[in-house]
Amino acid sequence: MRPFAGREPTWGMEPDAATFPTAPPAKIDLPAGLQLAKVSVTRTEAVARAVTESRAHLQPWMAWAAEPATTASIGTFLAMGEELFEQRRDFAYSILDPASGSVVGGCGLHGRLGRTGLEIGYWVHVDWVGRGVATEAARALTTAAFGIDGIERVRIHCEEANARSARVPAKLGYRCLGLVVPDEGPCTGRSTQEWMVERADWIAGVPEPTS
Ligand SMILES: CC(C)(COP(=O)(O)OP(=O)(O)OC[C@H]1O[C@@H](n2cnc3c(N)ncnc32)[C@H](O)[C@@H]1OP(=O)(O)O)[C@@H](O)C(=O)NCCC(=O)NCCS
Repeated sequence: MRPFAGREPTWGMEPDAATFPTAPPAKIDLPAGLQLAKVSVTRTEAVARAVTESRAHLQPWMAWAAEPATTASIGTFLAMGEELFEQRRDFAYSILDPASGSVVGGCGLHGRLGRTGLEIGYWVHVDWVGRGVATEAARALTTAAFGIDGIERVRIHCEEANARSARVPAKLGYRCLGLVVPDEGPCTGRSTQEWMVERADWIAGVPEPTS
């Protein structure tokens, strides 16, 4: 069943995604003490605060940042994320700094490639950019994606002009397949770099990162 039917936007989540055989872990440790944690409505205020503090930095790239974050809108997003995670359709995480209790960003594995692929999305709180947070989150999510039976590829889409975002898959050894204009997802209708890594390459140790 399609959750929240008629109450989109979906903030990048995919209510119509395939059901995957298993879910990735609900918690994943990152370097430097950070952690990925399955989204939870219990963090509504902290996530709303992080999005509000970062809005000017997010707005050019994240369509959902066009409107100010409210506890109502973020609560809806987190509830939907919890539901889709339980249904094993779409896996949204908060990036947390357990030491301070703050929300450092958000990321997820989204079902836009049928049953054999997942797409990573990410954003980082403006106070945390440039410290490798998105790269480490995407690295952990890629490994988690290939822990799911049947996942053969992981994709990252980033707008052609989003040079910071493009560094993330490049550093991880994803291959850039070129430019596309997606008809779904956060980059809909915009010139977008398509980055991909295949299961065999990731498991074997990805190729040398692109400089
Ligand atoms: C894109 C984003 C997630 C990157 O997060 P981050 O944690 O700072 O990323 P990392 O630190 O892992 O890597 C950032 C890279 O961009 C580089 N960078 C920073 N500013 C840059 C700029 N203006 N032009 C080009 N590269 C830049 C950094 O030097 C780093 O690369 P390096 O390690 O080779 O030096 C973050 O900037 C963000 O939240 N942006 C707004 C939302 C967004 O664009 N999300 C992605 C949508 S596809």
